Amino acid sequence: MFRSISIALVLSTTAFPGLSQQTADTVAPEAEADAVSAFDGISPELQASLAAKQDGVPAEAQTWMIAAANPWAVQAGARVLQNGGTAADAMVAVQATLGLVEPQSSGLGGGAFLVWYDAATGAVTTLDGRETAPLAATPTLFQDAAGEPLKFFDAVVGGRSVGTPGTPRLMETAHRMWGRANWGSLFDDAIALAEDGFPVSPRLAALVEGDADRLKRFPDTAGYFFPNDVPVQVGDLLINEAYADTLRQIAADGSAAFYTGAIAEDIVSAVRTASGNPGVLSTTDLALYRVIERPAVCVPYRNHDVCGMGPPSSGALTIGQILGTLEPFALADRDPMDPDTRRLIGDASRLAFADRGRYMADSDYVPVPTKGLVAPDYLKTRSDLLNGDTALEEVAPGEPEFDHALIWADDDSIELPSTSHISIVDAEGNALSMTTTIENGFGSRLFVRGFLLNNELTDFSFRTHRNGVPIANRLEPGKRPRSSMAPTIVLKDDAPVLVIGSPGGSRIIGYVAQSIIAHLDWGMDIQQAVSAPHLLNRFGTYDLEEGTDAETLAEPLEALGFKVNTRALTSGLHAIAVGDTLRGGADPRREGIAFGK
Ligand code: GLY
Repeated sequence: MFRSISIALVLSTTAFPGLSQQTADTVAPEAEADAVSAFDGISPELQASLAAKQDGVPAEAQTWMIAAANPWAVQAGARVLQNGGTAADAMVAVQATLGLVEPQSSGLGGGAFLVWYDAATGAVTTLDGRETAPLAATPTLFQDAAGEPLKFFDAVVGGRSVGTPGTPRLMETAHRMWGRANWGSLFDDAIALAEDGFPVSPRLAALVEGDADRLKRFPDTAGYFFPNDVPVQVGDLLINEAYADTLRQIAADGSAAFYTGAIAEDIVSAVRTASGNPGVLSTTDLALYRVIERPAVCVPYRNHDVCGMGPPSSGALTIGQILGTLEPFALADRDPMDPDTRRLIGDASRLAFADRGRYMADSDYVPVPTKGLVAPDYLKTRSDLLNGDTALEEVAPGEPEFDHALIWADDDSIELPSTSHISIVDAEGNALSMTTTIENGFGSRLFVRGFLLNNELTDFSFRTHRNGVPIANRLEPGKRPRSSMAPTIVLKDDAPVLVIGSPGGSRIIGYVAQSIIAHLDWGMDIQQAVSAPHLLNRFGTYDLEEGTDAETLAEPLEALGFKVNTRALTSGLHAIAVGDTLRGGADPRREGIAFGK
């Protein structure tokens, strides 16, 4: 069934004018209209899943399921699961394919966080495959000669922003810990697709066109995305021989083929010679890279345990704080679109983001009050702040209990969204939630050996101090930049009931937290939960998703004292609800699907 990898070449020439400032987060949903023609070559069963998503119907299966950002990647993972592979095996095939068909969001040149539920032991653990700062990087890497922060894209584009990639070693580590399939075989579909060519999706075509000025700065990048100086178009068959060759080497020799030898040397050379903005990555950085297994951060909510990725990600702590702060309020009895319901969620989120900005960073480098931030007594003090009738006039970090305290200043990291999320449940009941990224859309824009290099270092604070007080998320050699990625597994009675995550920069936190609320408190099915209009508050402004019912709350929220901003909110939620059956939801705002058997 999954053997039909032959490509239907569709010569659609749809263009998306006016996208010149788009990032990977902000392609308009109308791009979805051409999605079916770009995915004509996938199997009929996956076509049916794509159509079901467009009708707002959850995917349903009995045994295993995948939800991810591109049907070609889901098809590769489905074949692995169909052949008896585990969720970890399937992830390798999905990630290898995403790096080809959705190169702007994740790939070998980036990093990822993975949360794993082990059906045999009932344990939940996490793998940290975050990029690291090069050993030669200094805390002032993103400052000009006067000590002022660089403009965001001046920092991003080129070699300066490139951290040591973690994704290849994460794939290998997960496979070694929980995989069963032959490692090399997991790359077969991605290699075939890279050699034969894949039809360019509407989303990729629109993003290439919108990012032309930056992508064209580097000849190798321009040559791939602008053949004959013309941006790739929807349905064009894009061949990537270099990527096939890279995958073949990793399939044969493991991630060592990436972290040492000719591929590593080419990565370092691209970074160090990047025209106008070179970086300091070295072959030593690559050779030393390691994936770190860390305990999951689990926070109780409505008799469930919400488990996710702790520092260096702020994802699980901030989601845990939002949910924990809301626990005393009976959201299930409230209308989701009641302004006061949104006051509670919005201000719980603002309070959590205030703590995030001060306290959360790589806990291997700075003390983070991981337990204190989600301690019930502390969260009760934050809930008490929500007992008024109007928006909080002032939102400040609280004083969680530290195991070992230092004083930190509030940070001002800039995060623009891209990224991708994979959720998988296998036939044995193992669950995998992995958020994967090269940071900004197209990362650093440096293209080496068929993949893009990340710009993850710009997730550090560009400033090192504020009023003489150090910022926890400042850059230090070897440190991992703070993330917002929030791969999440929700458990009830120690068994998974929801596997979820999203791209979206620091908006990830709100996308995931509110989907959990929609599913657990408001009983929405998983497709409804991921499709629900977004209303997000991080730093004070209430962002309402344009073109949705969320817009109707603009005036009522303003009357409560919030500043309101209506805009596109392009999440990429991929979720699996686990019950008597598996039910999957894929975000209608992007090109992904959920599919299972
Ligand atoms: N670069 C996106 C994140 O880690 O949150």
